[in-house]
Parts: sequence; C-alpha cells; structure tokens
Amino acid sequence: MEKILVLDFGGQYNQLIARRVRDQHVFAEILPYNRITPQEILAAGYAGIIFTGGPNSVYDEASPHYPKEVLSLGIPVLGICYGCQLIAYMDGGEIRSAGEISEYGKVEHTVVDRDDPLFKGVPERDICWMSHTDYVSELPPGYEAIGVTENCPCAAMCDRSRKIYGVQFHPEVTHTRFGAALLHNFLYDICGVSGDWTSGSFVENSVAYYRDKYKGKKVLLALSGGVDSSVAAVLMHRAIGDDLTCVFVDHGLLRKDEGDIVERTFKGRFGLNMIRVNAADRFLARLAGVTEPERKRKIIGEEFIRVFEDVARQIGKVNVLVQGTIYPDVIESGAGDAATIKSHHNVGGLPSVIDFDEIAEPLRNLFKDEVRRVGLELGIPYELVWRQPFPGPGLAIRVIGEITAEKLDLLRDADAIFREEIARAGLERDTNQYFAVLTDTRTVGVMGDARTYGYTVALRAVSTDDFMTADWTRLPYELLARASARITNEVKGVSRVVYDVTSKPPATVEWE
Ligand code: XMP
Repeated sequence: MEKILVLDFGGQYNQLIARRVRDQHVFAEILPYNRITPQEILAAGYAGIIFTGGPNSVYDEASPHYPKEVLSLGIPVLGICYGCQLIAYMDGGEIRSAGEISEYGKVEHTVVDRDDPLFKGVPERDICWMSHTDYVSELPPGYEAIGVTENCPCAAMCDRSRKIYGVQFHPEVTHTRFGAALLHNFLYDICGVSGDWTSGSFVENSVAYYRDKYKGKKVLLALSGGVDSSVAAVLMHRAIGDDLTCVFVDHGLLRKDEGDIVERTFKGRFGLNMIRVNAADRFLARLAGVTEPERKRKIIGEEFIRVFEDVARQIGKVNVLVQGTIYPDVIESGAGDAATIKSHHNVGGLPSVIDFDEIAEPLRNLFKDEVRRVGLELGIPYELVWRQPFPGPGLAIRVIGEITAEKLDLLRDADAIFREEIARAGLERDTNQYFAVLTDTRTVGVMGDARTYGYTVALRAVSTDDFMTADWTRLPYELLARASARITNEVKGVSRVVYDVTSKPPATVEWE
C-alpha cells in the first residue's frame, strides 16, 4: 500500500492533513517528529512526506527541529506553514517575524510559476488561508518562489530538482479554495502515487491478513451495536467466520427494541456467532437507589466486567481479543491532560478480565468517516453505519435520579416517538444527536376534566462537529409540537414536555 508520512511538529491541523490526503485515496499516517528517524522513513517506503505546521518559531530554542538529511532521501516533501519555514531554515534560508503585518485568514494568492506541477490546474489568483507570524524572507540556495501573497514573498517555494516544496498557507483547510487540487498534485504528480487507498481495498487486504493470521483460533469481540464494534465484528467475521465469537451484553439500558435489532442484524442477517447476555436484572439491581451520575457510570462499568468475566469463564481460553479502537484514539492516547468532566465508560476496555494472548484492532488506522465507508462496503445497513452516538451507560444517564424499570420504559417510549418524528421530518442528518431525557420533576397537568401529576420529559437535539462543543439544534416548532403532543398523549405518566435550549459549554450534551 502506498503511504504518506505526516510528520507532526505540533500543528493543530495534523489530523485534518491526514484526512485530506486520504480523501485523495492515499493512505496517510501521522507520527510525531521525534518518533521516527530519516533512516526509518526511508526503510518504511513512504511515497512522500508532509511537514505539519506548529506553534513555534524556528529560531526558538525549544522549537522542534529535524535532521536535514530528510531532504536528501529522494522522497518528495511538502512543508506547510511552520513546516515550510523549517525546510527553508534547514537549507540555509532566512525566516523573519512579520510582526504587525502577520497574515491571518483569507488572503489572495498569486501563482508565479504556472508550469510547476504543484499548481497544475490552479487559478493564477485565488484565495488561500493563512495563519502565521513568521515567514520565509530569503529563500535557501537552489529554491525559487512559485507563489506569493501581498505580504509573503515566498507563499510557495520549491527546490524542483529534489521535489522539496513548502507553502506558507494551509492547503488542508477548505478556505484555501485550491487546497484539494494542490494536495492532489503533490500526491499524484510529484510523489507519483496511483491512489490505492479505498474502502474496497481496505476490506480485501484486512480480510486476507486476518484470515491468514487468526483462522482456526478462538477470537472474541465485545459487540455494543455502536458503529466501531459493529464494523470490526463484520470485518473479522468475513475473515474468520465462526472462529469469531461476539458477546453482546444487553444491560437493559438500551433504547426501544435496540437489543433485538442488534441481534437480528448481526446474528440473523450476518450470521455472526453471537452470544446475547440479557443482564438487565443484574444491572437494575446494582443501580437500585443510586442517583449520582458518576456512581451510575462506575457501577455500570464494573458490572460490565463482571458479566464479561462470567461469559469468559464459559468460553474458556481466548487467543485474540478484538477491539474497535479507531485512529483518533491511537493518536490521542497519552495526550490526556484535559480535565475529566465525565468519566466516559466504553465497552471496549476489558482485557484485564479475560485470559487472552493478543489484541487485534482492525480499525486502528481508520478515521470515523472511513469506518463508516468500510461499514457500507461490508453491507452493514445505512441506519447502523450512521447511527448517532449512544453513551455506554445508556439510558441510565438519561433517567435523572433513581432508575427503575418503569421509568426506563417510559423514557424508551418517549424517546422512540421523538426519533420517529425526526425521521418523519427527514431531519436525521441535520442534527448530530437527539434523544429524550426523563427528568425527576413531576408537574401538574389536566387531561379530560381530571388533574394529572406526571413526569416532565426533556427533548434534546444538538449540532456539533466533534461533541467537544455543541449547539442546540433549531428544530422546527411544528416538529416539536407534534412530538410533544404525541408523547403526552401516548406515554402514560408524562404530563409535560420541554425542549433543551442550552449549548455546550456551559451544559454538556447528556444531562448527567
Ligand atoms: P457530554 O455529555 O460529555 O457528551 O457532552 C459528549 C458525547 O459523549 C457521549 N457520552 C458518553 N459516551 N460513555 C460514552 O460512551 C459515557 O459515559 C458518555 N457520556 C457522554 C454523549 O452521548 C455525547 O455523544
């Protein structure tokens, strides 16, 4: 497989660069600059290298540098922002601080050398996106400026003979209108790739690889019904068939009919060897009387492990445990200095309780959108591949206060109505996550001529890119009106419906 190295110098767009390269059907992997040497780059057979941006100035003592021989490996290089300045610095150019006239935002870019392969098909004048204080003020010997902006005499530069390129702007952000064309040119015309990274080739290679490696072994996977574990399960099943056992723990905190849908899909349709553990009673018993959210999460996490231990005992010795780890988890693991707002409980982390030899992570190189594409390639239904995120602790953190079977049923019905109405309005893709919450507030209502005293259901829908921040979705009033009327009429015990109009921050997506 052809691959591009994204050498990370601390830029905030490192993941975006890798994704844009992959959008062009070329595999890209991100490595911190201090984790790989030029010799290792050469040995790994990369078709090209992209230096990311970074927050530093090349003259800072602490700024990240890299051995100059990387520019003489015979592998094309593209430096972006700090990466461009670093190339110039390494080869003897000069960098200056632009001070007052630093460029930020959309800037007009002019191509100087329209014959350079980097600018093939790029308009002579177009908009690029800049974010820098320093700039290359004097080119290193052997380089020429091939693009300029008003304040940047070397907005793009190259040493064509060695295929070393640098751009001061950010081709990976969509505001740079010719960014995708430029990256395409770098990859196909300068690095000479053919573009072999497709979901079809990924499935084919993975199936061949895992069949060879694990056929005949005992392989176990915890299936949650979420996108990642579902795709990992179907992929692995295609490789090794019944040697894969999937364990699906139904903790009784799933949405309406969800457990049955998971079973129908994976056991029925895909023929997976699946053990469904109906453990609702165990979980409910442990959660009885518990109202504090973090305590709920902790109990559910622990109980999951207990249930798994029991299943593992029946299964006996396992050779391989499959996990649905995806690329952002791989890149971000270890970078955990952010404060814990909620201790997210996921069903993946179970190795300590199972006797196994090896972990397999078939999706560890994929971004989320790629996991979805692979899912579709494998024939997993669209609704499942585009399933909105659902928290590991399930409805336990959407029933505020004490959890009972009755309250869960009530919430499930209200939630199903809300989802149905969103689907009926065709708005499933216009909001990223939506659900009902059962508050522990009861209020007075009137029905017929009688007084009622029922629960308040809150509806929540959020729009977000990454779930780190989110805004509440402006759902149409008519939709809210229909959902409210149906919930109060059809769900006995609910007398009031409210819509949550709080963004994150200051609120979080979930109520607990
Ligand atoms: P918050 O509420 O933290 O939610 O703003 C952000 C995203 O994370 C999901 N979430 C969880 N997912 N275990 C999970 O697997 C959890 O304990 C958990 N808590 C929140 C939430 O649904 C949203 O998508």
